[in-house]
Amino acid sequence: MKSTASAPAKIILFGEHFIVYGGKAILCSINKRITVESELTKTGQIEIESSLGKLKTSKSGAYKNADLVFRPIVYIAQRMLEKFHSESGIKIIVRAEFPSGVGLGSSSACCVAAAGSISGLFENNTKEEILKLSIDAERTIFENTSGADCTACVYGGILEYNKDGHVKKLEFVPKFDLVVANSGIIHSTSKVVSMVRQFKDERHEVFSSLCTQEASLIEEALNALQKNDLTKIGKLMTQNQEFLEKIGVSNDTLGSMISLVKDVSYGAKITGAGDGGCIIALADKTNLDRTLGALAKKYECFSAKIDMIGLEQSST
Ligand code: MEV
Repeated sequence: MKSTASAPAKIILFGEHFIVYGGKAILCSINKRITVESELTKTGQIEIESSLGKLKTSKSGAYKNADLVFRPIVYIAQRMLEKFHSESGIKIIVRAEFPSGVGLGSSSACCVAAAGSISGLFENNTKEEILKLSIDAERTIFENTSGADCTACVYGGILEYNKDGHVKKLEFVPKFDLVVANSGIIHSTSKVVSMVRQFKDERHEVFSSLCTQEASLIEEALNALQKNDLTKIGKLMTQNQEFLEKIGVSNDTLGSMISLVKDVSYGAKITGAGDGGCIIALADKTNLDRTLGALAKKYECFSAKIDMIGLEQSST
């Protein structure tokens, strides 16, 4: 039997970094996916194939020895084999429609799709159980994750998320387009999160005031999303970008990408950890082509739609 699962990329509309310290974030899944296919084998090994490389490892070896790219998948495979006292090995193939390390949640989408696919070889799990397994797996490489990215990948749509795990999927579906542009600068989310922790420790009062401002910005954003008020949502994105610049997670390249769309889109900001990765710009049919055009001369970019499905599983 082959067990397949896929999970979408995500962007963060509002609240990255501040969410790690107990705030709220608004996330949105987009229509680019990672698919993981797995099957039991007689080799007694865990074998992984992806565009990032290949790994063949003993199923009893410590997952901590695996390369970071493969570690969460090895963790999930070992946990499932142990739970079911299985003698088998597992072959796992990962296919991605979007690049890794650029703030689109590739690591989380991979954890969610791997948790769905590998656990599906042994048992039927609820989305909540798969989410828990995928966050445990992501913590093998990024201990302080808020869990927000995996949650977006599991449920799809637009989510209001609290670090304590409280999730609300927004019932209304706002009508907007997003342009995602890649700076081409690869970043490490856990490193950028550590940088922000240092900022918070050294400039506690500034950080705490920014957390308060971000919290009220998010309430305004929820209100504006409900009304599909793109002018207001865009302004709030631009304001959120200013907060992110203050905590040091933007840089000159990201800043100049945002300037390119300042006058054509409704608003723009980095998405995810920052210090590289992608920016997002808010548009609709009146300015989508101009927004894409402003970025496409210099950067890889695409227009994204909201993915309402989240995790998908099947077996053959
Ligand atoms: C990364 O996509 C989002 C961060 O807020 C980290 C996290 O929430 O785990 C930077």
